[in-house]
Amino acid sequence: MSLLIGVGVGPGDPELLTLQGLRALREADLVVVPVRDDRDEIGYAEAIVRAHLLPVGDDSDKGKHTSRIVRAPFALTDRGGVSERRSRAWEAAAALILKAFDDGATNIAFATIGDPNIYSTFSYLAATVRETRPEVEIRTVPGITAMQALAATSNTVLCEGNEPLVLFPALGGASAIDDILDHGPLTGATIVAYKGGRHWPDMRETLAAHGRLDAAIVGSHIGRHDQAVHQGREVEGEIPYLSTVIAPSSRTTRGGKLA
Ligand SMILES: C[S@@+](CC[C@H](N)C(=O)[O-])C[C@H]1O[C@@H](n2cnc3c(N)ncnc32)[C@H](O)[C@@H]1O
Repeated sequence: MSLLIGVGVGPGDPELLTLQGLRALREADLVVVPVRDDRDEIGYAEAIVRAHLLPVGDDSDKGKHTSRIVRAPFALTDRGGVSERRSRAWEAAAALILKAFDDGATNIAFATIGDPNIYSTFSYLAATVRETRPEVEIRTVPGITAMQALAATSNTVLCEGNEPLVLFPALGGASAIDDILDHGPLTGATIVAYKGGRHWPDMRETLAAHGRLDAAIVGSHIGRHDQAVHQGREVEGEIPYLSTVIAPSSRTTRGGKLA
């Protein structure tokens, strides 16, 4: 049997890895971690994995489980659809995994930040592996999302009663906020923006126009040593790619949104 398991390792703080995720990483013959482009650096997911496991050959902490950790470069900074670099990266990572199966591995984990079923490279990788070898069993272990970690860190309630919760990628700019909040049933939704770092100045203005800026929270690099969490009003200019914005629904009375 060949098993490929996408493990959500949480957004940054190694303590936000679930016990199931930790077990999946420990039991894997190989743990694959994404790195940006060809950079020879420890990415977010790898840093979390290394907080729990040691790469083979490193005996600096005998108390830790030792695992084979392999980096797979992804064109994580590309924009605008399925670029050739993106496709090539998915195919190269899939080839690396299939070769490891051919060489005797039966259980391979892919560590991904947050949850593997929310805007994760894992879904493209899994689809590429499945295309070539449909018999590979694909599973995922859920992870704590950046949205949840920011909500907890900032004491922000994401949704109550009948409030919808809309998570959207703000890559295309602030107009997505109008599209959501001008749309009848979603007017009262809490909105959460991912991937909107460079559009924050426009998002800030748009949130203000909808009366949502005062309660908005901006969190960057949540769970990392350089974490920054601020009220939206305090933040001007572009923010890093790894930033999440929460604009909670307006609430005036306790339980006021209960149906
Ligand atoms: C490719 S998506 C990954 C989402 C992830 N799978 C999840 O479940 O949260 C990348 C976006 O997630 C958000 N994100 C991920 N990690 C973050 C962190 N540590 N702090 C703030 N935002 C983060 C940012 O909005 C970033 O642009």
